[in-house]
Amino acid sequence: MKNIISFFFLISFIGIVYGFTNLDSQDDDPAGKQIFVDSKCVSCHSIEAVGLTTKSKKKNIPDLSDVGTRHNADFIMKFVTKQETLNDAQHPMAFKGSDEELLTLAKWLESLKVSEEEKKVE
Ligand code: HEC
Repeated sequence: MKNIISFFFLISFIGIVYGFTNLDSQDDDPAGKQIFVDSKCVSCHSIEAVGLTTKSKKKNIPDLSDVGTRHNADFIMKFVTKQETLNDAQHPMAFKGSDEELLTLAKWLESLKVSEEEKKVE
């Protein structure tokens, strides 16, 4: 009997922990967004679609709300590590994190496909 009760508690415990971690990753702060902020990308880029606004006043820096309609993750990874160019120019900043972070970041950016119309609604 005791065993069944501890088993029950164990299962509930796992359920709760799993529920929390799941909530975390599905919340409006995906891992890629966190890496984007932590890597100071936001010091230049806004992503208005996910509520990120840069303090930079420069006009030539694109908002990345719909970057996924222009580039795939593979290109983004190469571009921000300066192995690819855009309009014959390298990205002004090289990503310094791990390969894993780079992949998470690039996949997240690839998923951003807010259309111009949706942006205007905001
Ligand atoms: C020093 C300012 C600066 C920082 C910091 C910066 N970027 Fe950029 N980024 C730019 C500029 C300027 C361009 C436009 C380049 C062009 O169009 O030739 C750009 C372009 C891009 C593009 C292509 C956008 C498009 O619409 O084609 C991606 C993707 C990108 N940056 C990702 C990142 C990521 C990820 C980080 C953080 C690791 C980051 N950037 C940090 C200035 C910056």
